[in-house]
Amino acid sequence: FGYLNYLIERDRRFILDTLTQGLSRLEYRGYDSAGISADGDNEDSVLIVKQVGKVAALRKLIDEQQVDFGKTFISHCAMAHTRWATHGQPSPVNSHPHRSDPTGEFTVVHNGIITNYKELKTVLEKNGYTFESETDTECVAKLTKYIYDREKSNGNLTFTSLVKAVIKELEGSFAFIFKSKHYPNEVVATRRGSPLLIGVKTAKKLKVDFVDVEFGNAAESADKITDANEPKNLDTNFLSPDGGHPKLQRSQSRAFLSEDGLPQPIEYFLASDAAAIVEHTKRVLYLEDDDIAHIANGELHIHRLRRDDGISSSIRSIQTLEIELAEIMKGSFDHFMQKEIYEQPESVVNTMRGRVNFQNHKVTLGGLKAYLATIRRCRRIIFIACGTSYHSCLATRAIFEELTEIPSQVELASDFLDRKTPIFRDDVCVFVSQSGETADTILAMRYCLERGALSVGITNTVGSSISRESHCGVHINAGPEIGVASTKAYTSQYIALVMMAIQLSEDRISMTERRNEIIDGLYRLPGHIKEILSDDAKLQQLAADTLYKEKSLLIMGRGFQNATCLEGALKIKEISYMHSEGILAGELKHGPLALIDENMPVILVMTRDSLYPKVQSALEQVTARKGQPIIICNTGDTGISAQYKTIRVPSTIDCLQGLLNIVPLQLLSYHLAVMHGVDVDFPRNLAKSVTVE
Ligand code: G6P
Repeated sequence: FGYLNYLIERDRRFILDTLTQGLSRLEYRGYDSAGISADGDNEDSVLIVKQVGKVAALRKLIDEQQVDFGKTFISHCAMAHTRWATHGQPSPVNSHPHRSDPTGEFTVVHNGIITNYKELKTVLEKNGYTFESETDTECVAKLTKYIYDREKSNGNLTFTSLVKAVIKELEGSFAFIFKSKHYPNEVVATRRGSPLLIGVKTAKKLKVDFVDVEFGNAAESADKITDANEPKNLDTNFLSPDGGHPKLQRSQSRAFLSEDGLPQPIEYFLASDAAAIVEHTKRVLYLEDDDIAHIANGELHIHRLRRDDGISSSIRSIQTLEIELAEIMKGSFDHFMQKEIYEQPESVVNTMRGRVNFQNHKVTLGGLKAYLATIRRCRRIIFIACGTSYHSCLATRAIFEELTEIPSQVELASDFLDRKTPIFRDDVCVFVSQSGETADTILAMRYCLERGALSVGITNTVGSSISRESHCGVHINAGPEIGVASTKAYTSQYIALVMMAIQLSEDRISMTERRNEIIDGLYRLPGHIKEILSDDAKLQQLAADTLYKEKSLLIMGRGFQNATCLEGALKIKEISYMHSEGILAGELKHGPLALIDENMPVILVMTRDSLYPKVQSALEQVTARKGQPIIICNTGDTGISAQYKTIRVPSTIDCLQGLLNIVPLQLLSYHLAVMHGVDVDFPRNLAKSVTVE
């Protein structure tokens, strides 16, 4: 998170509060430590405060600083960060911002991973730099100083050209904000692979709604920093003829805010997520990979690393955010996760709004319309996702295959990439991601784009990398999901995929009746979910009486319910830290049965569908080993013996039943987590949006 004010007087208290408030809006993404950097009391000094744990702990430490909180700044730039440890354990010294030297000539915050940091570190160490942290990011701060010291004598070295020279050295993924004593009240922000957006707040109406991009020319950049023993690091294409500092070709530049030539009071908010910006302004600009944004004298300029990338347009437009602050607040609920579970009767409607015509039994997904013919002709559909999003693909694969008769496969993004899966031009690849920013899923998407496959994005985040880079797609419109454990996004993804299957099969007359009954089922869905939510107290009791003290829980089912079991088990393990496994009931006799005895807690998903008799036999196999499963079954099912504890859910059409069956498991996991005293919305070691590989 970054904040810059220009020609607006702000005191230090306001600036620091803005930073920590920004961080707390990003808390839901998961983190283990936090830090800030702002100007110090003396010209030239830098205030860096870092702390392990929550933003509240950082706030406390900031309050204890011996600084003048009333000091005012007419123009000032500051930044803040929450860290989710990848290199080096959570500790104050490993937290961001990182500095180039003890006086903090350059400070930097970073999301992502720099994969060649060891090589850079070796070069820097040979040049006399010593490191205080174990992080990859500290290399970047020190590299910035190294290049600055080398190039500053060449005259007019701009902050932008400096950062440009720095990121040319970097491999891996990043979103950075840079701040420097040498460039007071300026900020440079850049990204490659990790999200970054800039909010703009002015009293005046913006004159122009876009920023022209400035391209550098080919022979502009400084020598690459390189170890003489590492010639592979030397990229001669970027050697400047005179070895001088980078020069920019300014002819195309036009910063939107200075069109009338008059300086105007303005504030900028930089963040990896709109949630941190929306309370300040709804006007935002999303940066693209290799954009370098420079803010100075109230103006925002976007520069490109090089001209010839062929991907990005030369214009970045200012967009208006549609989310409301209330949507990212907890309201009367104790936790975001609880709120999001309870939102499902509405969020599922929002996913279908304007898309499903319940009278005519017709589904229209505007984002796919132009591509329907291509998708219908494809050789296969591959669904690629991680975590809960992956489960939504598993949950809907069968109905996809049934309705469309297109061979469909479901892949975990990381494994898909590890296997270098063969992909062809006539494949359709569907990338499902709540955040639209999961690194593995984005990398898989780029892999498929390179191979010419049609790429479809299904995401909850407008403006996210997946929604921008895919050819077409569907926004699930579930509203911001803050709890790390995904709930309402799962049900909305599920519905989006079912809608897609229905629309794709609309030319298949033989499927009309099946489609119609699914659409009728979708219509009844919100009421059914409400019915389950009204049983929450019973589920809480069940968690307290039966499961709370247990160490392990197996969840079994088959067919459409396999995904329910996997997703239910994921919910339980991620937020209550209790071991839980989803088991395909058909596989029971091939291993898991060995775990069953009178002590092993089991939940059996046994709602009525064509596989009911087979699940009944799984029940017998379990009870024959003295297992005492809790059974998730339909409300009116009289076939379940009274000896079993049951969780009753309304009955719906087979392919939608998983949308209902998951809700009690979400609630159970929530109650177990609360009973265990776990920080429900921020479970240990997990992040909402995993923007590293
Ligand atoms: C993380 C989150 C999960 C989520 C997964 C995929 O692991 O904690 O809740 O399912 O990432 O995220 P995505 O945003 O791509 O759906």
